[in-house]
Amino acid sequence: MEAITLLQGKRLLLAVTGSIAAYKSVDLASKLTQAGAQVDVILTAAAQAFITPLTFEAVTGRPAYTALWESAGGGLPTHIAHVGLAEAAALLAVIPATANTLAKLAAGLADDLLTVTALAARCPLLVAPAMDGGMYAHPAVVASVQTLAGRGAYVVAPETGRFASGLSGQGRLPETATLLGHIRLALAQAGPLRGRQIVVTAGGTREAIDPVRFVSNHSSGKQGYALAQAALDAGATVTLISTVGLPVPVGAQFVAVDSAAAMLAAVLEHSARADALIMAAAVADFRPGTVATQKIKKQEDTAGLTLELVRNPDILLQVKAQREQTGWPRRVIGFAAESEQVLAHAQSKLHRKALDLLVANDITAPDAGFAGDTNRVILLAADGGQTPLPLLSKTLVSEAIIDRVAALLAADA
Ligand code: PMT
Repeated sequence: MEAITLLQGKRLLLAVTGSIAAYKSVDLASKLTQAGAQVDVILTAAAQAFITPLTFEAVTGRPAYTALWESAGGGLPTHIAHVGLAEAAALLAVIPATANTLAKLAAGLADDLLTVTALAARCPLLVAPAMDGGMYAHPAVVASVQTLAGRGAYVVAPETGRFASGLSGQGRLPETATLLGHIRLALAQAGPLRGRQIVVTAGGTREAIDPVRFVSNHSSGKQGYALAQAALDAGATVTLISTVGLPVPVGAQFVAVDSAAAMLAAVLEHSARADALIMAAAVADFRPGTVATQKIKKQEDTAGLTLELVRNPDILLQVKAQREQTGWPRRVIGFAAESEQVLAHAQSKLHRKALDLLVANDITAPDAGFAGDTNRVILLAADGGQTPLPLLSKTLVSEAIIDRVAALLAADA
């Protein structure tokens, strides 16, 4: 599990209530801990019917709490557990949240460690309801959820599927990766890009030859997806325009495209009111001049096939024209994939495409550019500033770029 910058040094209060889905919270507590968070777990009495405090202590390396009057320990500033836990937390996440606990939280009852802590906490509250049968649709549960949402709680909607009882419906706790994504979104609400709309492109475009073949490149989309996640972690609203099918970061609006023409249309539409556009996609400069409607067949005497390629539109040049007319998107960040004279070619693209920032990567380096998990880039600013970054994961490269985007947008305010 890769470290998550947003979670570093954060204390999260994970409250587990009495649902069979409580077992999923163990994996969540483990992943949060591996990602760098300090996870304090509270179990209700009903949760302990399904799972033990020891299980959570084993994966978090910290005490798990069950009783209202037990000593807080762990250097907390008070011997009363609920106040100490509540004061330290960046987020109180109730996962899974039963109908009973939702009702108690909505009503402000305070009869156990979780509900007393919830009243003492000043941090954001996240609830992930999970319940069997038709319980989630019951008006009493709907009212509890609405009350909590109306008070600002972050509600993770349960998924639809099969329950432990064998019945089907809405009420299943989402899987760990989804829960983790929602926790990131809840924590990101105070981030530097809060209220900002960021559009990111990812992947290599596919230019059709016939119904089964296309011309493309080696872009995996990893750099673009990492940028989308970094923008979400900074609190932005994110639209991800992509040619590939990697897991979409939780909270991103996903727009699937294939060709450069389709990406151009999507970029112009979605960046028309965006604060920033980040073009990490590897857009094919050329496409087959004609697309065969049927699969091209080889004849017995065919020695080869000649494809005529024509120029694709340059998306960033079209964005430049849109920006000159409308002022949107406010900021534009491009990439340069270079195999020689990296700086010279990158400088020329920065100016020709009127970019605020250009991220230059040498795609011939074995540990940078296409497909891998790392990249080594130089950030070129419109004012001539150059910032070479060391070899980093694509996640950390993305966070450095998003820091620069946030600074550019803050300078506009
Ligand atoms: O996806 P990964 O496997 O993680 O790899 C990441 C990456 C190497 C693809 C990424 O880091 C990268 O460099 N993306 C840009 C690749 C590229 O198309 O570079 P370019 O030098 O050909 O284009 C310069 C800029 O113009 C790019 O921002 C590109 O999106 C844009 N462009 C290019 C052609 C075109 N017709 N329209 C464009 O807008």
